[in-house]
This record gives sequence, structure tokens and C-alpha cells, in this order.
Amino acid sequence: MSDIQKQIMTALSTVIEPELHKDIVSLNMVRDLEVVGDTAKFTIVLTTPACPLKNVFQDRCAAALIGHVPGIQKIDIAWDAQVPTDRRMIGRLDVPMNSLIAVASGKGGVGKSTISTNLAAALAEAGAKVGLIDADILNPNIPMMTGLGYGRPRVVDNKMLPMEAYGFKLISTGFLTTPDKPMILRGPMLHSAIRQFFTDVEWGKLDYMIVDLPPGTGDAPLSLAQSFPLTGVIIVTQPQEVAVSDALRSIAMFETLNVPIIGVVENMAGEFFGEGGGERLAKERNVPFLGRVPLAAAVRKGGDYGRPVVITEPDSPAGKALQSVAEAVAARTSLLMLQSADVIPLNVIG
Ligand SMILES: Nc1ncnc2c1ncn2[C@@H]1O[C@H](COP(=O)(O)OP(=O)(O)OP(=O)(O)O)[C@@H](O)[C@H]1O
Ligand SMILES: [Mg+2]
Repeated sequence: MSDIQKQIMTALSTVIEPELHKDIVSLNMVRDLEVVGDTAKFTIVLTTPACPLKNVFQDRCAAALIGHVPGIQKIDIAWDAQVPTDRRMIGRLDVPMNSLIAVASGKGGVGKSTISTNLAAALAEAGAKVGLIDADILNPNIPMMTGLGYGRPRVVDNKMLPMEAYGFKLISTGFLTTPDKPMILRGPMLHSAIRQFFTDVEWGKLDYMIVDLPPGTGDAPLSLAQSFPLTGVIIVTQPQEVAVSDALRSIAMFETLNVPIIGVVENMAGEFFGEGGGERLAKERNVPFLGRVPLAAAVRKGGDYGRPVVITEPDSPAGKALQSVAEAVAARTSLLMLQSADVIPLNVIG
């Protein structure tokens, strides 16, 4: 490394990653540094492509370098992302995924499938490799919400190829049955159906695997939490008390099972169901609040017509809210993975 490169790295080691509270040099986020004329060119490797903090890094790096390192007048940052690997995953499941995120709720119909679909679409749009498992085996809604209807996955070498929508991969019993011939399964079979969605599907390498659960604290969430190395769970609730008290039960169940709570999403906020219940719950349970999504016809239509609002109407209030939920989930998931002793930190992978 040349002298000026060393000076630049020293200056950049004053830039703190706001969520991990460590400097970007010791996190090994700065790569490929070169100096071209008066410009410092380097890559910043983020822990998620859905990082909302690019502008913050841009400003802080500029402030650290320009006027502090002689000869440097400009910076030119290239962005890359590497989702860290949750080490609990290794050897537990024969699926190469970095993180495993469940979406749960106490009460039914609060918007889990809607949040799961929009989250998958937003993360994929940001450049992440995303899979979505519809673990609502008996009442699969994901096919409709992604506009794939009742398509059939292809089978190659005894493995099912996942379906694809909006840049992410997905599987659902909706692709294997028709609504007039529903699956009738008992608890243990539900469990093996969910397991097969991990093991019998050719997922390829994934940054995020999202699992959309059926409501409540029944067999499916319980067996998922007990048998799979969950990075964390997102709790979805409506704002009204009836939903919030059920969400509380759901949080308590996952906490008992030692599953980290990624946070609470308050969905369908507005005049009809009220506002603030999810945020209050998060505060009371001391878990992160991931955001509030308004009750909006566009979201319902997006579900019915298979066009996630975060993609089709990104600038609408609901689209923006869902985008910001996705960013909060990505940030908090990175944090959970990097904080946990079970995790391979970025600088070891690099
Ligand atoms: N923010 C919103 N505004 C308007 N409609 C919404 C919103 N979120 C979800 N919906 C609609 O509410 C209905 C229920 O949502 P969804 O199916 O996502 O809930 P769920 O929690 O997955 O339900 P279940 O418990 O049955 O699995 C759907 O028709 C969906 O389109
Ligand atoms: Mg659902």
C-alpha cells in the first residue's frame, strides 16, 4: 500500500458504521482502493444491498478525506454488498442461504403474506438473492399475490425448480394443488411439507430466505422455530388492540424458543383500525419497530392482481412505507447476524 493509500485508510477508519457502531475499515467494508489524480476511488461492501445509508457513508467518507488527506479533492465510491452468513445455518440445512427470516402474526389476516411478498420484491429489486417459502400450506396466498396463479414448478433431477416473480424465487403448495382440491394434512405432515420446501427445491444460493407463516402459535410456527435455524422473526400486527394482544402472544412464543425478534410491523394503519398499536407493542416488549404501513386500496389490489405495490407504486405512501420496512428488516438482520457469536463476520468472509 502506498503512503497516500495508508493515509486514506487511516482517515476512513474514523468513519463509523451507524448501526454496527464500528469503523468501516475494521469491518473490512473498504476494498479496492486506488488513487487516480486527485480522486480516491474505492468500493464499500455493505452488509445488505438494501442499505438505506449510502448517502450517509458518501457524506462521511467525503468529510473524512477531503481537506484531511493532502492531494485528495474528490471521492468515487462503488457499492457492493455481501450479506453475512448466519453460522447457525451451516450443517443444519442443506440449502446455501445466508439468513432465514420468518414472518408471523398472532391474528389472521393482518398482512403477513402481503408484507412477505413486498419484502421479497423490495430486497430482490435492491439486488439481493431472495427466496420465499409459503409455509401457509393449507391456505396458500403467495401464488395469487405474485401473479403466478396456479402455475406448476418444473422438476429436474428429482428437485423442484422454484417459481420466479419480481426477481425472487418462491414455492407454495398453491403451485401443487388447486383451490377446489385443498390439501388436508395433520400437524406432522405440515412439518414435513415445510421441510421439503427447503430440501427438495433447487434454490441456488440465497442472501435471504423468507418464510410466510400461517397465523397464530400453532404447529407451523412452532415446528419452524424448533427445527430450523431462524435468524429472526418479523411480527406483523394491525394497530387495534385485538390484533396487538395476539401479536404479544406470538412474540412471547418466539422469545421462549430463543428466536430473535427482528421487529414489529404495524400494517393497515389509518382511520379504520387506528394507529400506533404496533409501535406501542414494540416499545413495551423492547423490540425494534420496523415501520407502519397505511391501509390503502392499492395494497389490497396489488395482492389481488399479483403486483406488489412496492414495485408498481414505489412513490405512493404505502409503497414508500413498505420500502422502508424492507430497509429496516435488512439492516436489523445484518445487525443480528453480525452481533451473534454464531456468525461469520464480514471480514472473515472477505
Ligand atoms: N396495508 C394494507 N392496505 C390494504 N389492504 C391490505 C393491506 N395489507 C394487506 N391487505 C389486504 O388484506 C388482506 C389480508 O392480507 P394478507 O393475506 O397479507 O394477510 P395474512 O396475515 O397473510 O392473512 P392469513 O393470516 O390468512 O395468512 C389481503 O386481501 C391483502 O391484500
Ligand atoms: Mg397469509
